[in-house]
Amino acid sequence: MAEFSLPKNSKINKGTHYPLSQKGGDVSTFKVYRWSPDEGKNPRTDTYEVNLDNCGPMVLDALIKIKDEVDSTLTFRRSCREGICGSCAMNINGTNTLACTTSIKAIKGKEVSIYPLPHMEVVKDLVPDLSHFYAQYASIKPWLQTDSVPLPDKERLQSIEDREKLDGLYECILCACCTTSCPSYWWNGDRYLGPAVLLQSYRWLADSRDEHTGERLDDLEDPFKLYRCHTIMNCTSTCPKGLNPGKAIAEIKKMIAERHAL
Ligand code: SF4
Ligand code: SF4
Ligand code: FES
Repeated sequence: MAEFSLPKNSKINKGTHYPLSQKGGDVSTFKVYRWSPDEGKNPRTDTYEVNLDNCGPMVLDALIKIKDEVDSTLTFRRSCREGICGSCAMNINGTNTLACTTSIKAIKGKEVSIYPLPHMEVVKDLVPDLSHFYAQYASIKPWLQTDSVPLPDKERLQSIEDREKLDGLYECILCACCTTSCPSYWWNGDRYLGPAVLLQSYRWLADSRDEHTGERLDDLEDPFKLYRCHTIMNCTSTCPKGLNPGKAIAEIKKMIAERHAL
Protein backbone atom coordinates (compact mmCIF):
# COMPACT_ATOMS: atom_id res chain seq x y z
CA MET A 1 0.00 0.00 0.00
CA ALA A 2 1.52 3.31 -0.99
CA GLU A 3 -1.11 5.82 0.10
CA PHE A 4 -0.70 7.65 3.38
CA SER A 5 -2.63 10.31 5.21
CA LEU A 6 -0.75 13.49 4.56
CA PRO A 7 -1.92 16.98 5.26
CA LYS A 8 -2.84 18.60 1.92
CA ASN A 9 -0.05 20.11 -0.24
CA SER A 10 2.71 18.55 1.79
CA LYS A 11 5.51 16.10 1.18
CA ILE A 12 7.44 13.91 3.58
CA ASN A 13 10.85 15.32 4.51
CA LYS A 14 13.83 13.30 5.63
CA GLY A 15 14.06 13.62 9.40
CA THR A 16 16.65 12.81 12.04
CA HIS A 17 18.76 9.66 12.09
CA TYR A 18 19.29 8.22 15.57
CA PRO A 19 22.23 5.77 15.40
CA LEU A 20 23.08 3.36 18.22
CA SER A 21 25.82 4.62 20.51
CA GLN A 22 27.37 1.14 20.68
CA LYS A 23 28.07 -0.79 17.50
CA GLY A 24 27.50 -4.54 17.15
CA GLY A 25 24.62 -6.88 17.89
CA ASP A 26 21.55 -7.68 15.84
CA VAL A 27 20.50 -4.23 14.64
CA SER A 28 17.32 -3.24 12.77
CA THR A 29 16.40 0.21 11.46
CA PHE A 30 12.95 1.68 12.00
CA LYS A 31 11.85 4.48 9.65
CA VAL A 32 8.91 6.16 11.38
CA TYR A 33 6.44 8.79 10.11
CA ARG A 34 6.41 11.91 12.29
CA TRP A 35 3.99 14.83 12.13
CA SER A 36 2.73 17.15 14.81
CA PRO A 37 0.05 19.83 14.32
CA ASP A 38 1.94 21.98 16.84
CA GLU A 39 5.07 22.26 14.67
CA GLY A 40 3.39 23.67 11.55
CA LYS A 41 5.87 21.79 9.34
CA ASN A 42 5.67 19.09 6.67
CA PRO A 43 5.76 15.52 7.93
CA ARG A 44 9.13 13.76 8.12
CA THR A 45 10.44 10.27 8.64
CA ASP A 46 12.85 9.78 11.53
CA THR A 47 15.17 6.77 11.51
CA TYR A 48 16.00 4.84 14.68
CA GLU A 49 18.50 2.03 15.03
CA VAL A 50 17.45 -0.61 17.58
CA ASN A 51 19.56 -3.46 18.95
CA LEU A 52 17.22 -6.46 18.83
CA ASP A 53 19.39 -8.33 21.35
CA ASN A 54 17.86 -6.22 24.12
CA CYS A 55 14.42 -5.52 22.67
CA GLY A 56 11.17 -7.51 22.81
CA PRO A 57 10.24 -9.49 19.69
CA MET A 58 7.39 -7.37 18.26
CA VAL A 59 7.32 -4.08 16.35
CA LEU A 60 5.39 -2.55 19.27
CA ASP A 61 8.27 -3.52 21.59
CA ALA A 62 10.66 -1.57 19.35
CA LEU A 63 8.37 1.50 19.32
CA ILE A 64 8.09 1.40 23.13
CA LYS A 65 11.88 1.05 23.43
CA ILE A 66 12.42 4.02 21.10
CA LYS A 67 9.94 6.12 23.11
CA ASP A 68 11.48 5.09 26.44
CA GLU A 69 15.15 5.39 25.54
CA VAL A 70 15.58 7.63 22.49
CA ASP A 71 12.69 9.97 21.73
CA SER A 72 9.85 10.45 24.22
CA THR A 73 7.92 12.63 21.75
CA LEU A 74 7.14 9.66 19.47
CA THR A 75 3.35 9.18 19.66
CA PHE A 76 1.37 6.00 19.03
CA ARG A 77 -1.58 4.16 20.53
CA ARG A 78 -1.40 0.84 22.30
CA SER A 79 -3.04 -0.86 25.24
CA CYS A 80 -3.32 -4.65 25.46
CA ARG A 81 -0.18 -5.76 23.55
CA GLU A 82 -2.14 -8.99 22.90
CA GLY A 83 -3.96 -8.28 19.60
CA ILE A 84 -7.21 -7.69 21.50
CA CYS A 85 -7.79 -3.93 21.77
CA GLY A 86 -7.01 -2.89 18.18
CA SER A 87 -5.26 0.33 19.30
CA CYS A 88 -1.84 -0.31 17.76
CA ALA A 89 -3.09 -0.67 14.16
CA MET A 90 -0.65 0.99 11.75
CA ASN A 91 0.93 0.50 8.33
CA ILE A 92 4.09 -1.61 8.68
CA ASN A 93 6.18 -2.14 5.56
CA GLY A 94 3.14 -1.44 3.40
CA THR A 95 0.61 -3.59 5.25
CA ASN A 96 -2.07 -2.44 7.67
CA THR A 97 -1.62 -4.59 10.74
CA LEU A 98 -1.17 -4.65 14.53
CA ALA A 99 2.27 -3.62 15.82
CA CYS A 100 1.91 -5.86 18.87
CA THR A 101 1.45 -9.07 16.89
CA THR A 102 3.98 -8.32 14.13
CA SER A 103 7.30 -10.02 14.76
CA ILE A 104 10.33 -7.89 13.86
CA LYS A 105 12.28 -10.97 12.81
CA ALA A 106 9.50 -12.10 10.47
CA ILE A 107 9.92 -8.87 8.46
CA LYS A 108 12.21 -9.37 5.47
CA GLY A 109 15.20 -7.05 5.39
CA LYS A 110 16.66 -4.89 8.15
CA GLU A 111 14.56 -1.77 7.61
CA VAL A 112 11.01 -1.44 8.93
CA SER A 113 8.85 1.44 7.61
CA ILE A 114 6.03 2.53 9.91
CA TYR A 115 3.26 4.92 8.88
CA PRO A 116 -0.21 5.67 10.27
CA LEU A 117 -3.21 3.87 8.80
CA PRO A 118 -3.65 5.20 5.25
CA HIS A 119 -6.10 7.86 4.11
CA MET A 120 -7.14 9.03 7.56
CA GLU A 121 -6.53 12.42 9.10
CA VAL A 122 -3.54 12.23 11.42
CA VAL A 123 -3.80 13.46 15.01
CA LYS A 124 -0.05 13.10 15.63
CA ASP A 125 2.68 10.74 14.34
CA LEU A 126 1.16 7.24 14.17
CA VAL A 127 -2.23 8.18 15.63
CA PRO A 128 -5.06 8.41 13.07
CA ASP A 129 -8.28 10.29 13.80
CA LEU A 130 -10.92 7.55 14.08
CA SER A 131 -13.82 9.84 15.11
CA HIS A 132 -15.73 9.35 11.84
CA PHE A 133 -15.06 5.59 11.89
CA TYR A 134 -16.51 5.32 15.40
CA ALA A 135 -19.51 7.50 14.47
CA GLN A 136 -20.18 5.15 11.55
CA TYR A 137 -19.94 2.20 13.95
CA ALA A 138 -22.48 3.83 16.31
CA SER A 139 -24.80 4.45 13.33
CA ILE A 140 -25.41 0.72 12.82
CA LYS A 141 -26.73 0.37 16.40
CA PRO A 142 -24.25 -2.29 17.50
CA TRP A 143 -26.36 -3.78 20.26
CA LEU A 144 -29.14 -6.36 20.58
CA GLN A 145 -32.49 -4.82 19.62
CA THR A 146 -35.67 -6.61 20.74
CA ASP A 147 -39.39 -5.84 21.08
CA SER A 148 -40.56 -9.04 22.77
CA VAL A 149 -40.61 -9.23 26.55
CA PRO A 150 -37.95 -11.64 27.85
CA LEU A 151 -39.00 -14.54 30.07
CA PRO A 152 -38.54 -13.57 33.73
CA ASP A 153 -35.15 -14.54 35.21
CA LYS A 154 -33.98 -15.98 31.87
CA GLU A 155 -31.36 -14.87 29.41
CA ARG A 156 -32.27 -14.78 25.74
CA LEU A 157 -30.92 -18.16 24.68
CA GLN A 158 -29.49 -19.35 21.36
CA SER A 159 -29.06 -22.84 19.96
CA ILE A 160 -25.48 -24.01 19.48
CA GLU A 161 -26.04 -23.80 15.71
CA ASP A 162 -27.27 -20.19 15.90
CA ARG A 163 -24.38 -19.23 18.15
CA GLU A 164 -21.95 -20.70 15.62
CA LYS A 165 -23.26 -18.25 12.99
CA LEU A 166 -21.49 -15.48 14.94
CA ASP A 167 -18.08 -17.14 14.63
CA GLY A 168 -15.81 -15.09 12.36
CA LEU A 169 -17.79 -11.96 13.30
CA TYR A 170 -17.65 -11.45 17.06
CA GLU A 171 -13.83 -11.63 17.01
CA CYS A 172 -13.54 -8.26 15.20
CA ILE A 173 -11.56 -5.82 17.36
CA LEU A 174 -12.45 -2.70 15.31
CA CYS A 175 -8.80 -1.99 14.54
CA ALA A 176 -9.76 -0.34 11.19
CA CYS A 177 -6.98 -2.14 9.26
CA CYS A 178 -9.54 -3.40 6.74
CA THR A 179 -11.45 -0.16 6.33
CA THR A 180 -8.30 1.88 5.73
CA SER A 181 -7.08 -0.61 3.11
CA CYS A 182 -10.30 -0.37 1.09
CA PRO A 183 -10.05 1.84 -2.04
CA SER A 184 -13.81 2.42 -2.01
CA TYR A 185 -13.50 3.75 1.55
CA TRP A 186 -10.56 5.98 0.59
CA TRP A 187 -12.69 7.79 -1.98
CA ASN A 188 -16.18 7.59 -0.41
CA GLY A 189 -15.51 7.14 3.30
CA ASP A 190 -17.81 10.05 4.13
CA ARG A 191 -20.82 7.96 3.10
CA TYR A 192 -19.62 4.37 2.51
CA LEU A 193 -19.57 2.47 5.82
CA GLY A 194 -16.52 0.37 4.93
CA PRO A 195 -15.71 -3.26 5.69
CA ALA A 196 -15.25 -3.12 9.49
CA VAL A 197 -18.56 -1.42 10.18
CA LEU A 198 -20.36 -3.62 7.64
CA LEU A 199 -18.91 -6.77 9.22
CA GLN A 200 -20.13 -5.50 12.58
CA SER A 201 -23.51 -4.78 11.04
CA TYR A 202 -23.73 -8.35 9.74
CA ARG A 203 -22.78 -9.61 13.22
CA TRP A 204 -26.20 -8.26 14.43
CA LEU A 205 -28.07 -9.31 11.29
CA ALA A 206 -26.82 -12.86 11.84
CA ASP A 207 -27.80 -12.91 15.52
CA SER A 208 -30.89 -15.13 16.02
CA ARG A 209 -31.91 -13.11 19.10
CA ASP A 210 -32.10 -9.74 17.32
CA GLU A 211 -35.63 -8.69 16.30
CA HIS A 212 -34.79 -5.62 14.18
CA THR A 213 -33.39 -7.36 11.09
CA GLY A 214 -35.82 -5.59 8.75
CA GLU A 215 -34.97 -2.11 10.03
CA ARG A 216 -31.27 -2.89 9.94
CA LEU A 217 -31.51 -3.95 6.27
CA ASP A 218 -33.64 -0.89 5.42
CA ASP A 219 -30.92 1.33 6.88
CA LEU A 220 -28.21 -0.33 4.81
CA GLU A 221 -30.10 -0.28 1.50
CA ASP A 222 -28.43 2.82 0.18
CA PRO A 223 -26.19 3.35 -2.86
CA PHE A 224 -23.32 4.53 -0.68
CA LYS A 225 -23.52 2.87 2.75
CA LEU A 226 -23.30 -0.69 1.38
CA TYR A 227 -23.10 -0.79 -2.40
CA ARG A 228 -19.78 1.07 -2.72
CA CYS A 229 -18.13 -2.29 -1.98
CA HIS A 230 -16.82 -3.59 -5.30
CA THR A 231 -15.43 -6.86 -3.93
CA ILE A 232 -11.79 -5.80 -4.29
CA MET A 233 -11.06 -7.88 -1.13
CA ASN A 234 -8.13 -5.80 0.22
CA CYS A 235 -10.09 -5.87 3.48
CA THR A 236 -10.00 -9.62 3.86
CA SER A 237 -6.35 -9.97 2.91
CA THR A 238 -5.23 -7.40 5.49
CA CYS A 239 -7.34 -8.37 8.55
CA PRO A 240 -4.85 -9.23 11.33
CA LYS A 241 -7.49 -11.41 13.02
CA GLY A 242 -7.99 -13.55 9.90
CA LEU A 243 -11.62 -12.43 9.44
CA ASN A 244 -13.43 -12.06 6.13
CA PRO A 245 -15.27 -8.71 5.94
CA GLY A 246 -15.69 -9.13 2.16
CA LYS A 247 -17.78 -12.25 2.77
CA ALA A 248 -19.85 -10.54 5.47
CA ILE A 249 -20.65 -7.74 3.00
CA ALA A 250 -21.65 -10.32 0.38
CA GLU A 251 -23.97 -11.95 2.96
CA ILE A 252 -25.69 -8.61 3.63
CA LYS A 253 -26.20 -8.06 -0.12
CA LYS A 254 -27.63 -11.60 -0.33
CA MET A 255 -30.08 -10.93 2.54
CA ILE A 256 -31.30 -7.78 0.78
CA ALA A 257 -31.63 -9.60 -2.58
CA GLU A 258 -33.57 -12.45 -0.94
CA ARG A 259 -35.92 -9.95 0.70
CA HIS A 260 -36.68 -8.40 -2.69
CA ALA A 261 -37.24 -11.83 -4.24
CA LEU A 262 -40.05 -12.65 -1.74
S1 SF4 B 1 -12.53 -7.07 10.39
FE1 SF4 B 1 -10.40 -7.43 10.99
S2 SF4 B 1 -9.27 -5.71 10.12
FE2 SF4 B 1 -11.42 -5.16 10.12
S3 SF4 B 1 -11.70 -4.01 12.00
FE3 SF4 B 1 -12.26 -6.14 12.42
S4 SF4 B 1 -10.40 -7.08 13.19
FE4 SF4 B 1 -9.78 -5.17 12.25
S1 SF4 C 1 -14.30 -6.15 -0.67
FE1 SF4 C 1 -15.45 -4.28 -0.47
S2 SF4 C 1 -14.97 -3.59 1.54
FE2 SF4 C 1 -13.40 -5.09 1.02
S3 SF4 C 1 -11.72 -3.87 0.16
FE3 SF4 C 1 -13.07 -4.48 -1.44
S4 SF4 C 1 -14.46 -2.78 -1.80
FE4 SF4 C 1 -13.53 -2.56 0.21
S1 FES D 1 -1.89 -3.11 21.67
FE1 FES D 1 -3.92 -3.95 21.66
S2 FES D 1 -4.04 -4.81 19.66
FE2 FES D 1 -2.01 -4.12 19.77
